[in-house]
Amino acid sequence: MKKVLITGATSGIGEALCLHYQALNYVVIACGRQQDKLAKLAAYDNVSTIAVDLCDEQQVMTQFAQLGRLDLVILNAGSCEYIDDVKNFDGQLFARVMNTNLIGTGYCLAALLPQIPAGGQLALVGSSASFLPFSRAQAYGASKAAIAYLARTLALDLKSQNIDVSLVSPGFVKTPLTDKNDFSMPMQISAQQAAVEIVSGLEKRVFDIHFPKKFTLILKALSLLPDRWWCAISTRMLSK
Ligand SMILES: NC(=O)c1ccc[n+]([C@@H]2O[C@H](COP(=O)([O-])OP(=O)(O)OC[C@H]3O[C@@H](n4cnc5c(N)ncnc54)[C@H](OP(=O)(O)O)[C@@H]3O)[C@@H](O)[C@H]2O)c1
Repeated sequence: MKKVLITGATSGIGEALCLHYQALNYVVIACGRQQDKLAKLAAYDNVSTIAVDLCDEQQVMTQFAQLGRLDLVILNAGSCEYIDDVKNFDGQLFARVMNTNLIGTGYCLAALLPQIPAGGQLALVGSSASFLPFSRAQAYGASKAAIAYLARTLALDLKSQNIDVSLVSPGFVKTPLTDKNDFSMPMQISAQQAAVEIVSGLEKRVFDIHFPKKFTLILKALSLLPDRWWCAISTRMLSK
């Protein structure tokens, strides 16, 4: 049986991935902080759980030590907070988001990469938000742009180790993270649909897993425009 470790498995996309891989007969290691959610996941066959705060390096190194061969590692945990008043830039908010989305990912890589064998796979969950600059997304977008760069460079350097890396860039997915949003979210899909897309992309060992395609391809096309064009489009959309 193949073994998959998933961070952020207590909610949203991570939880849907956990249940999907469990149904596919994987041995699943589900990670998160919420003990009650972890206990519910642990009730499933072949699911074990690890309670860990990914912003705590010591906890990550201890809890993720000696898990044995990990065929697939999905670093999915993340948080989103917006900068509402850019002139009074909230440095603590920025640090919080960066710590969870980027620095925590670095701790996970330090602990888990040695346990991924040749032929194994690593997936980093970024966001289609990193394709273009979006209003109020200075912290979240910067953290996800960094994840995209990290994934690209890991893919380069892990090729010789025969470890495939994937970058997952979802559009809007209905989860507790997006339930907090106060703006319209076009082409939003369910966490289960997102899990199907991710599992299918990982099965094919695709590097750039993005969905829903209608949405992400439009963003990718817009990202090719000169910055000032996007700025004008974005400003017009915000004024409506
Ligand atoms: N939903 C979307 O539309 C969307 C779009 C693009 C990208 N994404 C990305 O997809 C990933 C999953 O998002 P989601 O929408 O499923 O969010 P979610 O429902 O809020 O789940 C976030 C998960 O991350 C975990 N987490 C957060 N901080 C943590 C920490 N310090 N230590 C350990 N675990 C932590 C949470 O676990 P605990 O609460 O148990 O700690 C939870 O399981 C994120 O990286 C997000 O940026 C989401």
